[in-house]
Amino acid sequence: MCGIVGYVGERQALPILISGLKRLEYRGYDSAGVAMIRDGAVWSEKKKGRICDLERSLETQPSDGFLPVGIAHTRWATHGAPSDVNAHPHFDCKRGIAVVHNGIIENYAEIRRGLLEKGHVFASETDSEVLAHLIETFDEGDMVAAIQRSLHLVRGTFGILVLASREPDRIYAARRGSPLVIGLADDENLVASDGSALVEHTKKVIYLSDDEMAAIDRRGVHVRTLQDSRVSKSVQELSFGLEQIQKGGYDHFMLKEIFEQPETIGDSMRGRLLSDEGRAKLGGLEGYLERIRNSERIIITACGTSWHAGLIGEYLIEKLAHIPVEVEYASEFRYRDPILSRNDTVIAISQSGETADTLAAVREARQKGALVLGLCNVVGSSVARETAAGVYLHAGPEIGVASTKAFTSQVAVLSLIALALGRMTSLSNDEGRLMVQELMSIPDKIRAILGQTDRILALARKMTKKRNALYLGRGFNYPVALEGALKMKEISYIHAEGYPAAEMKHGPIALIDEDMPVIFLAVKDPVYEKVLSNIQEVKARGGWVIAVVNSGDRDAARNADEVIEIPETSQPLSPMLTVIPLQLLAYHTAVLKGCDVDQPRNLAKSVTVE
Ligand code: G6P
Repeated sequence: MCGIVGYVGERQALPILISGLKRLEYRGYDSAGVAMIRDGAVWSEKKKGRICDLERSLETQPSDGFLPVGIAHTRWATHGAPSDVNAHPHFDCKRGIAVVHNGIIENYAEIRRGLLEKGHVFASETDSEVLAHLIETFDEGDMVAAIQRSLHLVRGTFGILVLASREPDRIYAARRGSPLVIGLADDENLVASDGSALVEHTKKVIYLSDDEMAAIDRRGVHVRTLQDSRVSKSVQELSFGLEQIQKGGYDHFMLKEIFEQPETIGDSMRGRLLSDEGRAKLGGLEGYLERIRNSERIIITACGTSWHAGLIGEYLIEKLAHIPVEVEYASEFRYRDPILSRNDTVIAISQSGETADTLAAVREARQKGALVLGLCNVVGSSVARETAAGVYLHAGPEIGVASTKAFTSQVAVLSLIALALGRMTSLSNDEGRLMVQELMSIPDKIRAILGQTDRILALARKMTKKRNALYLGRGFNYPVALEGALKMKEISYIHAEGYPAAEMKHGPIALIDEDMPVIFLAVKDPVYEKVLSNIQEVKARGGWVIAVVNSGDRDAARNADEVIEIPETSQPLSPMLTVIPLQLLAYHTAVLKGCDVDQPRNLAKSVTVE
């Protein structure tokens, strides 16, 4: 949600800022801008639209005379529509200070009123602009103090960069709630919302924590708290390389990420499966498993696709370990004063580790004494840092806004957690060994599904003519139906709903006619026969049925209009397979409809506002 890049060094800043913005474009893409220093003044260009629109307008601008320093931003609008003026950076009245901001200033209206009374003139409708004017008000020659005093007045979340014309060899960064990571290189330093904008320059990074600020120049980085205490930060290594954030020959990041899943699931399980003992060993949970097993309840909290993974986690943990599990939308959980105690374990699932609602749910649960664990993909992210312990997904950077490989890795890791807990409770050694074997076979089975592109492409062609779709599944595949529908609606803009298949007769059945595609998950598991009956109910009403079935299943094929065949696996692990054709179906439908699959309209990858 909004991407930020800053550079200070010896090279030309503009190309570095623009390529950094392109790497962050998935975070927001309705407008973009840069600010640099030229002839002793702040110079800026801002444009509504994508980064390529900003680039085009920069072609007509002067290219020389700039100092090797600058800040840049790609926006996902919250306050004020996407437009040139609402794009960041924002400035003070004298245009001596430029600010880029990710987050929301909740009390901006009140601050703005006060500043207007003092005679400040505002150019935009954004909440962010108040920051530049506040800093101007407090600027008595000490920029650090001016930023600190300004941020003391602010309620809400921020990751900001500040560039001032009178300190042209330095940028300032500060955060509360919105991530910032500083990249350290020789004779130059960078800062960005995430490491993907830094990795082509350096892998050495410092993660800024909440209520910290940094003064960054070409030679070094000085970190202090907003209360002005010095902080010494450890330098860490980015866990991914440049090749992992490039498209690698695929047309879209989403397709690349779908095809990476055999490897990414393998990476999520690597070193964590003990075949002989039929167990899973999760280093990050060492020392906590007893407490989790003895929990009265496990509450899984998350948003979006991660919430769908959480629902599968519920089925997995309850089935294999017999511990009661509840799954909560983080946005609801945080505000309903949840009843929690030391006897509860909360698992927060978040690909980015920065989702504002999930982070707030983590804080709420911690405050109430629960054991809080994190399941994140981004190493060093806020959720990872604020939880007592956790497990990293190791799925590598996910760039496509619609989550794919993070989802299957979340499910893989939840399977390992369920296995680890199950072996401490009711699962026998033999059952554990069988599950380990089955888990190890998942990557190859996904490869087999990925080989069916032509079949899925043919179905996608038919889907492009539809305006609605229903996704139905039962048991472990009910959350997959939700996830399949989410994938379809978010990238192809076809209205799609997921339902438990048996619930269809309590409402959605009224929608069924020959124009309604109904996508069933009908693999051989204990609810298979029941799903076949649900298919017949749809067929009897003229619906068009696509069924995801196990290879060679003639019964299902007879009932459905179209089938997609996938290999068999055990019921608890089937979501990692059944979701793959649904990801591909959504992807190809969206591409055929001419939609921008990597950056669907109105969405952002990392939602750092509530
Ligand atoms: C956004 C993304 C989704 C994602 C959700 C939760 O809405 O577009 O793909 O599932 O946020 O994100 P998280 O990083 O917490 O998993």
